[in-house]
Amino acid sequence: MAEFVAVADSSEVSDGSSLLVEVEEQLIVLIHAAGHFYALDDVCTHDGGPLSEGPIDAAAGTIACPRHGAKFDVKTGSAVTMPATSATIVHEVKVENGRVYVRLNR
Ligand code: FES
Repeated sequence: MAEFVAVADSSEVSDGSSLLVEVEEQLIVLIHAAGHFYALDDVCTHDGGPLSEGPIDAAAGTIACPRHGAKFDVKTGSAVTMPATSATIVHEVKVENGRVYVRLNR
């Protein structure tokens, strides 16, 4: 099983924003929404758009692909609007002593 990897200080990612990080050579978008941190593959399942460049709706709990606007649930990775129809991969996140850690789900 993959290990937790420190990716950022929690203060680096303000609520409602995201940060592109690399974990074991994989690009991950770290999302801070409504007080919680989430981690998804930085890949839109429609056509590979970089989710880390899209806007977050913290109240709705979604991040939108900057290419064609598909929205994904930040907790589950599910595609909630077209044109994406399948989920992107969610990774485990923990925060300890102000550091954010991600463990790849694979
Ligand atoms: S590549 Fe993301 S919506 Fe098309």
